[in-house]
Amino acid sequence: MQQAQKQQHNPLSNNQKHVRLAKADLHQGDCLAVIPHLDGFFDAVVTDPPYSSGGQSKGNRAASTGAKYLNTGSVQWPDFAGDSKDQRSYLHWSALWMGLCYEKLNPGGLIVVFSDWRQLPVTTDAIQASGFTWRGVGVWDKAGSARPYKGGFKAQTEFFVWGSKGPLVGDSYSPGLFRVQQKPGEKRHQVGKPLDLMEPLVAACGNRILDPFMGSGTTGVAAIGQGKEFSGIEVCDHYFQVAVDRIRER
Ligand SMILES: C[S@@+](CC[C@H](N)C(=O)[O-])C[C@H]1O[C@@H](n2cnc3c(N)ncnc32)[C@H](O)[C@@H]1O
Repeated sequence: MQQAQKQQHNPLSNNQKHVRLAKADLHQGDCLAVIPHLDGFFDAVVTDPPYSSGGQSKGNRAASTGAKYLNTGSVQWPDFAGDSKDQRSYLHWSALWMGLCYEKLNPGGLIVVFSDWRQLPVTTDAIQASGFTWRGVGVWDKAGSARPYKGGFKAQTEFFVWGSKGPLVGDSYSPGLFRVQQKPGEKRHQVGKPLDLMEPLVAACGNRILDPFMGSGTTGVAAIGQGKEFSGIEVCDHYFQVAVDRIRER
């Protein structure tokens, strides 16, 4: 019996740590469990969820994140969680977490969610299903740091789907395309985003930012660097600690 319970242990059900810094509130746990308990309301959600992508078949999707997203021979970061859902469950799950975020946003608050080409249609569906007004799709042009594609076109872009909780309230004008190359040695996560990409996105948002999938904390580093307040959630112990260290050092 004990053996069976051990095997059924779900790492996403843990909410083990909470670190509060001067302008940052960092939680280790499943964002579905944590978001409803966050204090107050946010001006924006800026996040990069696991894409559950990297393969066309069930077997490919269920592979480790390292096998899916790392080139052989590159630095080995630990695998990350929540990346093996099929399309239907990805849509359902995305609408769940986005709906929780909606409840925690101020009127007019922005949501900015990264996606790749495979998950783009599902992500735009989920953003609307969860109550947001879908307003557009921005582009991250990875320039030279993109993977080549023999016989086809280089996988040079990722996307951010964005929307708002009702009418927009901000007064900034931001570009919709960012050409940012990953700097060698910069990444602290298997699929970490460049700081130079996250900084202008965070700058376009209000003062209080939430990232429910913070990974190595790049959104938080950008927010704290701009004097904003940041709340972040990460389920994996390793990446939670990386995020805490990076944000603390900022
Ligand atoms: C794509 S990564 C984010 C990387 C981040 N943008 C960075 O620059 O480091 C998504 C992260 O979400 C975490 N995650 C997956 N499911 C989660 C959940 N239910 N709640 C909180 N974090 C989760 C994964 O462990 C992973 O580290």
